[in-house]
Amino acid sequence: MPNQRRIVCYIAISLDGYIATEDDSLEWLFKVEGEGDAGYGEFIKTIDTVVMGRRTYDWVMEAEGGKDPYPDKECYVFSTTEHGRKENVKYTDEEILPFAERLRREPGKDIWVVGGGSLLHGFLKEKLIDEFIISIAPTLIGKGIPLFQELDFQIDYRLKSVRQFGQFAQLHYELKK
Ligand SMILES: NC(=O)c1ccc[n+]([C@@H]2O[C@H](COP(=O)([O-])OP(=O)(O)OC[C@H]3O[C@@H](n4cnc5c(N)ncnc54)[C@H](OP(=O)(O)O)[C@@H]3O)[C@@H](O)[C@H]2O)c1
Repeated sequence: MPNQRRIVCYIAISLDGYIATEDDSLEWLFKVEGEGDAGYGEFIKTIDTVVMGRRTYDWVMEAEGGKDPYPDKECYVFSTTEHGRKENVKYTDEEILPFAERLRREPGKDIWVVGGGSLLHGFLKEKLIDEFIISIAPTLIGKGIPLFQELDFQIDYRLKSVRQFGQFAQLHYELKK
């Protein structure tokens, strides 16, 4: 049987666990001295499908000046307020579990859950994140949008690697099965 597609969260956080400030700023992240592309080029080759929450998609589109950031990928944006298609993305409000199970059954590369915290929480509630690649910026931002929300259970991961890219520590975890 071919390897099943993995669902991967590749994301950057502050040292105190936030993905953005309360007003959606990532300035604290962009000012950190990295090294090369921090493994992004290598990672993106393993992906053919991108999944985002509507707020993250809006943020990315604004940051990119309306230019589609993932033109060669299948893009899904979860939203209850937007429907249909826009640019290269498909809006969906499907339940996360059947959505993920269906994608996993289709042939393809791995699936990237870009964020944010709200959509990630939906995936974690169903224990659907197979891998995390988390780049930690050496900055405490004090408050903001957390990567992780509260769960009522524990999920165990295995540490695959620890890499340093300039001032970023990048932790790669895979789900313990
Ligand atoms: N540091 C990083 O690497 C990184 C990565 C990604 C994002 N971010 C930042 O994170 C922030 C956004 O994160 P967030 O947690 O506030 O929002 P988010 O997860 O990006 O988006 C939340 C929205 O997604 C939709 N949604 C989520 N779960 C859904 C479900 N199960 N079914 C249907 N729709 C669903 C809803 O849209 P509707 O309101 O339309 O219903 C909800 O309001 C932004 O500032 C972004 O820049 C940072």
